[in-house]
Amino acid sequence: MASELFQMISVLLIVFSFPALSHGWGTDGHYIVCQIAQERLNDAAADTVNELLPDYAKNNLSSLCSWADRVKFIYTWSSELHYIDVPDDSCSYNYSRDCKDSNGVQGRCASGAITNYTTQLLSYRNSSDNRQYNLTQALLFLAHIMGDIHQPLHVGHTSDKGGNTIDVHWYTTNTVLHHVWDSSIIDTTEADFYSSDVTGYVDDLNQNITGKWSNQTSKWQGCSRNAIACPDIYASESISAACEWAYKDVTNGSELGDKYFNSRLPVVDLRLAQAGVRLAEILNRIFG
Ligand SMILES: *[C@@H]1O[C@H](CO)[C@@H](O)[C@H](O)[C@H]1NC(C)=O
Ligand SMILES: *[C@@H]1O[C@H](CO)[C@@H](O)[C@H](O)[C@H]1NC(C)=O
Ligand SMILES: *[C@@H]1O[C@H](CO)[C@@H](O)[C@H](O)[C@H]1NC(C)=O
Ligand SMILES: *[C@@H]1O[C@H](CO)[C@@H](O)[C@H](O)[C@H]1NC(C)=O
Ligand SMILES: *[C@@H]1O[C@H](CO)[C@@H](O)[C@H](O)[C@H]1NC(C)=O
Ligand SMILES: *[C@@H]1O[C@H](CO)[C@@H](O)[C@H](O)[C@H]1NC(C)=O
Ligand SMILES: *[C@@H]1O[C@H](CO)[C@@H](O)[C@H](O)[C@H]1NC(C)=O
Ligand SMILES: *[C@@H]1O[C@H](CO)[C@@H](O)[C@H](O)[C@H]1NC(C)=O
Ligand SMILES: [Zn+2]
Repeated sequence: MASELFQMISVLLIVFSFPALSHGWGTDGHYIVCQIAQERLNDAAADTVNELLPDYAKNNLSSLCSWADRVKFIYTWSSELHYIDVPDDSCSYNYSRDCKDSNGVQGRCASGAITNYTTQLLSYRNSSDNRQYNLTQALLFLAHIMGDIHQPLHVGHTSDKGGNTIDVHWYTTNTVLHHVWDSSIIDTTEADFYSSDVTGYVDDLNQNITGKWSNQTSKWQGCSRNAIACPDIYASESISAACEWAYKDVTNGSELGDKYFNSRLPVVDLRLAQAGVRLAEILNRIFG
């Protein structure tokens, strides 16, 4: 009885602490990343992704790109796979130092998870393999965490939990810095420029991917030693952008408005585009 009550209270505490301690681009950020990726899949990858998607989401990977956030409470082991904590005095990422969970288990971070789920998905090709893992879940974790690792504050400093304990005012709203990067910048962009419709934002990002960024995409997709995914590169870029843009000139209680929004939006645009392009390329390499 007592332990049941305790369990109930814990669940309530977890549920109510959720908004302040969100992990990952908000729903729209993940949707955008997967929408960009989906349109860049080659035929083989598109077919396999469709086979793995449940019936209600065929041809629609983006509709399930926030699945991994929704299952964090059931699969509590997965919650630490959405981010990476870097020491407060560092603006660079080091796998052996930083990619571990709160118990110090190596590899349990967003970067390790990308390698994990990439490897699992490779066994799809392997008909002799009597599948050890649920590859639908592997796909949904990979698609989601590829988004997260590109959100600069998902590779943030340890003591402020990637900006989750830094209170800010976003225009007239009270929030935390982490949430500004997960959602507020994206939401404000959609409200200001796209009549609050995410589709127009995706179209403009795609236009820049095939336009002004077209001479960079092969570099984004590049990986050392023909590796399928290079999550340590994505993580390094994020902590670097976190220091240079997200944390810069922000203190506890800062008021963030037009100046911050206008100067940081290009960084958000770029990270969303890179995440989408890279996710597509990874799936193309795995299934192509
Ligand atoms: C994909 O799913 C989203 C959200 O569930 C829905 O709004 C959209 O219409 C779907 N798109 C297609 C092409 O089915
Ligand atoms: C990364 O961290 C490990 C463990 O703390 C350390 O031994 C190594 O020198 C670091 N590498 C770099 C390039 O700083
Ligand atoms: C790898 O995937 C399995 C299955 O989802 C999971 O149990 C394990 O915790 C994952 N490990 C990492 C480091 O992602
Ligand atoms: C394919 O299956 C074999 C036998 O189960 C296994 O040894 C091998 O590691 C699998 N390959 C991949 C890529 O999973
Ligand atoms: C794999 O996971 C999905 C999503 O959680 C679930 O709907 C499906 O039933 C699972 N498949 C198997 C074979 O367990
Ligand atoms: C910011 O201020 C709030 C409220 O005073 C406090 O709870 C929080 O720990 C502070 N955060 C940091 C990073 O100092
Ligand atoms: C696309 O690029 C143009 C030209 O640099 C820029 O003005 C616009 O904000 C960019 N839009 C997106 C969504 O990246
Ligand atoms: C891509 O082209 C632009 C001009 O359109 C140039 O400023 C930029 O340096 C080029 N980037 C690369 C990686 O070649
Ligand atoms: Zn997440």
